[in-house]
Amino acid sequence: MLTVAVLISGTGSNLRALLDAAAEPGFPARVVVVGADRQADGFAHAEAFGIPTVMVPFREFETREQWGEELRRQIDVWTPDLIVLSGLMRLLPDALVDAWAPALINTHPAYLPEFPGAHGVRDALAAGVSQTGASVIVVDTGVDSGPILAQERIDVLPGDTEHTLHERIKPVERRLLIEVVRGIAAGEIDLSAYAPAIPSADVAEATETPDAAAVASDIA
Ligand code: GRF
Repeated sequence: MLTVAVLISGTGSNLRALLDAAAEPGFPARVVVVGADRQADGFAHAEAFGIPTVMVPFREFETREQWGEELRRQIDVWTPDLIVLSGLMRLLPDALVDAWAPALINTHPAYLPEFPGAHGVRDALAAGVSQTGASVIVVDTGVDSGPILAQERIDVLPGDTEHTLHERIKPVERRLLIEVVRGIAAGEIDLSAYAPAIPSADVAEATETPDAAAVASDIA
């Protein structure tokens, strides 16, 4: 049984869908802890299922790195096999991505790499596209730039607002998330294939070194 930690900031409708799916007999994953960077409304779903919650308030830390260290400490207590970012409206510090990747996935309300970032739905509308989408990706240290595990197109309809479009995207996001978690748990999706070859801290160090190319060719 794959154990999952889910991190949220908001209403947690994707979380709810995953909790409902995991309650079905035979679903090969279960949520062991729900975390948030604030007092998120979505905690109510965790409580309804008797699942422990962890709140690490971003605003109480001086740096993103300190917040990330505390979040890692509190989530790792539950030794999850997989961490799902489901509406977490904070970028994780690179050190935390390095610690958790590639067992770290994110849902996004656009057809990546189109419209990354915090306003994927708004940006698609503003661009006047006729289709956008939903994606589930492996998190890397960029913004919504990691490998895509699943995605689907959704039509933008005349008269759509950010709200109506997002409400049509969310059910697709939920379905893709559940399919991906099930696929990981069943061994159909092998996240180890997405392991970063070099942790981002080492990449930064290497690119700052004048002889990085020489070092790289030595390694090769
Ligand atoms: C989802 O569309 C997610 O991709 C986006 O925010 C929404 C989260 O909704 N970043 P909820 O908290 O699961 O209801």
